[in-house]
Amino acid sequence: MKILVTGGAGFIGSNFIHYMLEHHPDYDIINLDKLTYAGNLENLRDIGPGKRYRFERGDIADADLVRGIMDQGIDAVINFAAESHVDRSILEPASFIKANILGTHVLLDTARERRISRFVQISTDEVYGSLGATGRFTEETCLRPNSPYSASKASADMIALAYHRTFGMPVLITRTSNNYGPYQFPEKLLPLAITNLMEDRSVPIYGDGLNVRDWIFVMDNAEAIDMVLHKGEDGEIYNIGAGHESTNISLVSSVLGIMGKPSSLIAYVKDRPGHDRRYAIDPSKIMTALGWSPRTTLRDGLKMTVDWYTKNVGWWKRVRSGEYLEYYEKNYSAKGLKTDSR
Ligand code: NAD
Ligand code: TYD
Repeated sequence: MKILVTGGAGFIGSNFIHYMLEHHPDYDIINLDKLTYAGNLENLRDIGPGKRYRFERGDIADADLVRGIMDQGIDAVINFAAESHVDRSILEPASFIKANILGTHVLLDTARERRISRFVQISTDEVYGSLGATGRFTEETCLRPNSPYSASKASADMIALAYHRTFGMPVLITRTSNNYGPYQFPEKLLPLAITNLMEDRSVPIYGDGLNVRDWIFVMDNAEAIDMVLHKGEDGEIYNIGAGHESTNISLVSSVLGIMGKPSSLIAYVKDRPGHDRRYAIDPSKIMTALGWSPRTTLRDGLKMTVDWYTKNVGWWKRVRSGEYLEYYEKNYSAKGLKTDSR
C-alpha cells in the first residue's frame, strides 16, 4: 500500500509514521508537510535507511503539487495537516481557515479526480463543542464548535462527508480527544508544563483549572487510525478516546508529582476566551465495530511522556527557540532535500 500522510512532521503525524513503518514495513509512505512552526523533521530523523519513506515539503492547498504526488500511485490519503492550536486560532483565525478548510478541500478534490481508494480525515472531539458535568460525545452528537480552530475542523468534516454523500468518495473521519506523548510542540498544556517544570518555571493554568479534557496516549490513537484505515467503513465517523478524563489542575498536579516539583509552580492566569468546559469521548463504536481499545493508562502515559522530554532536552530547546528551522536548512534543504530514507 502506498500512503500519502499529510502533516507527518507534526506531533501526531510523526508518531503515526513511526507506528506505520514498524507495523507495515512493506508500505510506502510519502509525507507532505509545509513545515510550519509546528512541523519538525527531527521528529522523523531516527527513521533508518531502507525504510520505504519519503518527505516532500509543501502546502496541502497547493493543487499542482498535490496532483503531482497523487499521480505517483497513491492508494490512501491520511490528512493530519492542520493549524492545531486553539490559542493561535483566537489570535489569527485566517491561517486556520486556509490550511484546515481550503487545504482539506484541495486534497479531497484531487483525491476524487485521481480516484484514490481511501481518504481518512483526522478530526477532533472539539467539533462537538463543550459538555456540562455529565454525558459524552457520540458520533451522533450535534456539532457546536466554539473556537476558530474547532469551527475550521468542523467545516472540513462537513466538506469531507459531502464528498462521500455526493460523489461516493471513500471518506472516513476520526475524531480523537486530546493526545499527549513524544514530539508534541511545547505550546500545548502537557509539554508546556513538563518543559517549564524542568526549568523550574511556573505552569500557567487558565481560569479555575477545572476544565476537563479526555486524554489519550498518541500511540493508542495511531493504532486506532491504522484500524480505521484498514477496517473502517466508507462514510463513517469514529470517535477515539481512552476514557481518561481529567481537570487541568489534576493533570498538572500528577505531572508535578511524577517530576517531584512543588505546587507553588502552578500559576493561575486569565482564562482563554470561549474556553470549552468539558470534553469526553464515547469510543464504543470503534471498540465494537473495529475491535480497538486503548493500551496505555494515563499514569503510564504521563510517566513515559515526562521521561521522553527529560531525555530529549535538545529537541524541545531547539523547538522552543525556533532553532530547529536552522537545523532543517542545514541538514536537509541546503543539501537538496535529503529526506528519502531509501
Ligand atoms: P501539529 O500542529 O503538531 O502538526 C501539524 C502539522 O501539519 C505540522 O507538521 C505542520 O507543519 C503541518 N501543516 C500545517 N499546515 C499545513 C499545510 N497547509 N500543508 C502541509 N502541512 C501543513 O498538530 P497535531 O497535534 O499533530 O495534530 C494533527 C492533526 O490531528 C490535526 O488535524 C489536528 O486537528 C488533529 N487532532 C489533534 C489533537 C491533539 O490533541 N493534538 C486531537 C485531535 C485531533
Ligand atoms: P491545549 O493543550 O491547548 O489543548 P485544547 O485546547 O485543544 O484542549 O489545552 C488543554 C487544556 O489546558 C485546555 O483546557 C486549556 C488549558 N491550558 C492551560 O490551562 N494552560 C496552558 O498554558 C495551555 C496551553 C492550556
